[in-house]
Amino acid sequence: MQTSNSLLSCLPEDFIFGVATAAYQIEGAAQLDGRRPSIWDDFAHAGGNVANNDSGDVACDHYHLWQSDLDLIKSLNMDAYRFSFAWPRVIPTGKGATNEKGIAFYDRLIDGCLERGLAPFATLYHWDLPSDLQQYGGWTHRDTAFAFADYAEVITKHFGDRLASLTTFNEPWCSSILSYLYGVHAPGKKDISLTLKCLHNQHLGHGLAVQRIKNTNPDLATGIVLNLQSVYPATNNEADKAAATRHEIFHNSAFLDPLFKGHYPAEFITELAHHLPEKWEDDLNTIHQPLDFWGLNYYTPIRINADDNPNALYPKSLAASPENCERTDIGWEVAADTFEELMIKVYEQYTLPPVYITENGACINDEPIDGVISDVRRQDYLDQHISAMIRAHKAGVPVRGYFAWSLMDNFEWAEGYDMRFGLVHVDYATQKRTIKQSGYWYAELGKAQLARRA
Ligand code: FCB
Repeated sequence: MQTSNSLLSCLPEDFIFGVATAAYQIEGAAQLDGRRPSIWDDFAHAGGNVANNDSGDVACDHYHLWQSDLDLIKSLNMDAYRFSFAWPRVIPTGKGATNEKGIAFYDRLIDGCLERGLAPFATLYHWDLPSDLQQYGGWTHRDTAFAFADYAEVITKHFGDRLASLTTFNEPWCSSILSYLYGVHAPGKKDISLTLKCLHNQHLGHGLAVQRIKNTNPDLATGIVLNLQSVYPATNNEADKAAATRHEIFHNSAFLDPLFKGHYPAEFITELAHHLPEKWEDDLNTIHQPLDFWGLNYYTPIRINADDNPNALYPKSLAASPENCERTDIGWEVAADTFEELMIKVYEQYTLPPVYITENGACINDEPIDGVISDVRRQDYLDQHISAMIRAHKAGVPVRGYFAWSLMDNFEWAEGYDMRFGLVHVDYATQKRTIKQSGYWYAELGKAQLARRA
């Protein structure tokens, strides 16, 4: 197997490497300087939703440690930093008045990136909806899409000329299906009808926001980040194959088709249209906006069995748990070939703009031993997946950059602080950062790419 470093020359010289984070997972300072709560503050504080009842109250205290964190990114030889704005810091009640102190924080952060030669790749929505909007139904209410578009305009006006790109949503699958059908993420509902309202209103919010971003600053590269599932039938039997196809329609095409083709998949409509908001058809043109790029977040494949329970909901699929496969510490299967296959397949099926790998990484919970974190399994994971991405590039996929998830260990949503994805270890008692072996390895890759441009 070739290593990613030896394959680097297959990439264009302007291909970028970066690291990614998200506001609620790292910032902390949850009650400071005018920020109001988000649905994740409420969900975590309610108890019973997050491992150990952890919350993002303090997280990595990045709100105060942002300067040394940016220095750390620079020391890893990165080109770019992907982060998200916290909507409740910028517009605390979700709509209306902006918060000068919140805006000032992102001014410091973005200027700090530019001073260090790091390209700022920003996300508008990485799941921290202002709680004041949730009171009116949050994403299940159509008005939230319009509030989101207003927020997009505020951000574009103020920061747009300093950003390398702006993304509307991070993984709308998580903020709709995982949050409203499976109940795993905030606000923790299990209701198919609410799920489809939320999903559609997020699509609408995306379309409206893209229009507002482009009307405000036509030069700002605009996109969306999707966590497409890489779906395989668990066996060769016909029932499992059919279930895998249905699973893909519900979990992938329900996002890709409206965003990039301007309609929902036919089977999805036959099965589920009665749950969509009234007059959903009228929104399709707004949802289908031209984009400058899209982002793919990828971690693991999913193997599917048919769900033969007569009461099972569409798509009647169950995730199988393969035996004897390599897994990361969160239990996710490691299979880098599936990453390459997904990238190639999605470009065969859709006409898409260029892609950035906006997240990829591994949960490996290795702790320091004598101050050293030898996270060999994370290094291997990254090496295998970056190599797979380079093979997809060679096969013709227009991939422009790669962001490792994550810069540092952080609040891993429902898993709390137990699950560590960082290239940099965080000691939460002291906020001490320690670069892991994988971080040093990734820094070498970044250095080699910088050297190609010298
Ligand atoms: C993705 C999220 C990111 C992080 C990783 C592990 O789904 O976008 O915030 O939690 O998973």
